[in-house]
Amino acid sequence: MSNDHISATPDLEHTCPSRRHLLRIAALAAPAGMLMATGTAAVATEKASATGERISANGKVAIVTGSSRGIGAATARRLALDGYSVTINYLHNQDLAQDSVAYIENAGGKAISVQADVSDPDAVRKLFDATQEAFGGVDVVVSNAGVMRLASFASMSDEDFDRMMAVNLKGGFNVLRLAAQRVRDCGRIISLSSSITQLRSPTYGPYAASKGAQELFASVLAKELAGRQISVNAMAPGLVNTTLFTDGKTPEQIAGFAQRTPHQRLGEPEDIAHVISALCSGDGMWINGQTVFANGGVI
Ligand SMILES: NC(=O)c1ccc[n+]([C@@H]2O[C@H](COP(=O)([O-])OP(=O)(O)OC[C@H]3O[C@@H](n4cnc5c(N)ncnc54)[C@H](OP(=O)(O)O)[C@@H]3O)[C@@H](O)[C@H]2O)c1
Repeated sequence: MSNDHISATPDLEHTCPSRRHLLRIAALAAPAGMLMATGTAAVATEKASATGERISANGKVAIVTGSSRGIGAATARRLALDGYSVTINYLHNQDLAQDSVAYIENAGGKAISVQADVSDPDAVRKLFDATQEAFGGVDVVVSNAGVMRLASFASMSDEDFDRMMAVNLKGGFNVLRLAAQRVRDCGRIISLSSSITQLRSPTYGPYAASKGAQELFASVLAKELAGRQISVNAMAPGLVNTTLFTDGKTPEQIAGFAQRTPHQRLGEPEDIAHVISALCSGDGMWINGQTVFANGGVI
């Protein structure tokens, strides 16, 4: 980690990758005389070429909900290393959230931590307000906060069912609604689903339903944001080594799950963060309205 370095150089252009690509294509296709006549475009193309081949989002801003630990923490750190100023959101674990802020700042990046329960619409609004106040806007939202309670249909309590719906379903909606209102053109919105929407294992019914909703949300919202160059996707991890997955399982059960993947290990939070980073990059733009399964090949 000591070699990680975050560039503080601001890229104030916020140029849409798609427009940059169009300019590049236009410049390549244009006869020489026309290039002379469209000098502005040619200059813009040159600037884009100088920066377009690397993952870099300097000057842009990301909110990652539920990023005090697990997949959210790895995603927040990865996006910071990509150049984003990052808002770390937590519910209870302020110390862990602050650890990630310190990690990012030590590496030369910018981060704040904000407590907000995503199931509360007012709290989510304040989360976005705090981000805009600190960093001037929002370009990427990763709706990651989630809880999992497992029980058969016959034994699931009302309390556990209601909490999953409040955090995962209503919370996911609360975050995507604000994202739809506030993410700047050319941004990215990603909502965390789960590979359980395909695996459909016993005891996962209500959790899987709350996660499947994120896939529907993403595909509909992608269409609602037409014309703004914002890509919206659901990310569906599987078997990731976090307390959400390991709590309540014996070491033998966890080892058994690990052996079910072709790579014969659990995923690590960073495995998911890398894919989210790729979706947020300029090169990820054409993946839109989809569910991306990242589970090491277990399904
Ligand atoms: N791990 C897996 O195998 C797996 C597989 C598929 C999908 N997922 C999904 O990936 C996402 C992250 O999972 P994870 O495994 O990283 O979970 P995790 O390790 O349990 O972390 C959950 C995070 O969400 C936060 N959080 C919980 N309730 C919240 C609320 N009401 N408001 C704001 N933040 C809240 C927690 O904050 P505090 O620390 O403050 O409590 C924590 O930062 C979830 O949506 C989950 O459904 C995980």
